[in-house]
Amino acid sequence: MFDALQLFRLDNRVALVTGGSKGLGKAMALALAGAGADVAISSRHLDEAEAAAQEIAEATGRRVIPIRADVTSADDVNAMVDQVVRELGRIDILVNNAGINRRGPILELDVETWHQIIETNLTGPWLCAKAVGPHMIAQRWGRVINVSSILGLVGLEERTPYASSKGGLIQMTRTLALEWAPYGITVNALCPGPIMTAINEVFKQNLEAYEAFRRRIPLGRWGDPEDIQGAVLFMASEASRFMTGAVIVVDGGWTAQ
Ligand SMILES: NC(=O)c1ccc[n+]([C@@H]2O[C@H](COP(=O)([O-])OP(=O)(O)OC[C@H]3O[C@@H](n4cnc5c(N)ncnc54)[C@H](OP(=O)(O)O)[C@@H]3O)[C@@H](O)[C@H]2O)c1
Repeated sequence: MFDALQLFRLDNRVALVTGGSKGLGKAMALALAGAGADVAISSRHLDEAEAAAQEIAEATGRRVIPIRADVTSADDVNAMVDQVVRELGRIDILVNNAGINRRGPILELDVETWHQIIETNLTGPWLCAKAVGPHMIAQRWGRVINVSSILGLVGLEERTPYASSKGGLIQMTRTLALEWAPYGITVNALCPGPIMTAINEVFKQNLEAYEAFRRRIPLGRWGDPEDIQGAVLFMASEASRFMTGAVIVVDGGWTAQ
């Protein structure tokens, strides 16, 4: 009997999800562990990563390790990848998910904000890819999933640093996909639409803006973190083996308009 769901299984795989302590990262880590992978989750706050790791381990029966690491620090990133390989034995899947946003008109944003967003959302994924590369190249298999955004594809006022970082991440995805294709490593970008997490906390204080966003989403609702679990399983598994340099949009239809 052909079991198509085997294509999505991640048994014997090890995944690292940056920013896996909450929001989309936690939902994706849960999905990867639920499909059979052992998972490392990182964040700048060890206590939050520990709590999420315990929750995911209990829900899935997999090994889930918490790591404190700031993706803007090359030293932290290298130590994080060393720890994953030391404790979980290998690294097959990198989900470059850690990210931040600050909104405002360009004339009201300072350059420190620009640097902070670019360092976290663009330099961070570059450092993480660079650190996992030697391991994936040596084993001739790897999956790099860069969490970009619909704002990497279309514009929205008062998001110049964020949209620039996410657009840059899509170009990094395409370039690295070409560079690493000879080694059996695929590199793809995932572009979520509006999903209610801590990054969108401001909308909870501004119901009018929340509603305005909702009306712009053809499927008629904000996304939940669980809405991207199917896409990440596809991107992390054999199911997507002929896909690289691609951009997958999960946005309730925002960019179809
Ligand atoms: N929610 C949406 O609507 C949406 C839409 C499109 C794209 N995205 C993207 O999806 C990703 C996850 O967003 P989210 O909505 O889940 O946000 P979130 O709930 O705020 O989670 C962000 C995660 O990133 C971590 N993080 C932030 N800066 C970090 C750093 N310098 N080093 C290491 N970890 C760091 C945070 O942990 P610590 O603070 O403890 O470090 C947290 O675990 C981001 O890249 C975001 O841009 C989100």
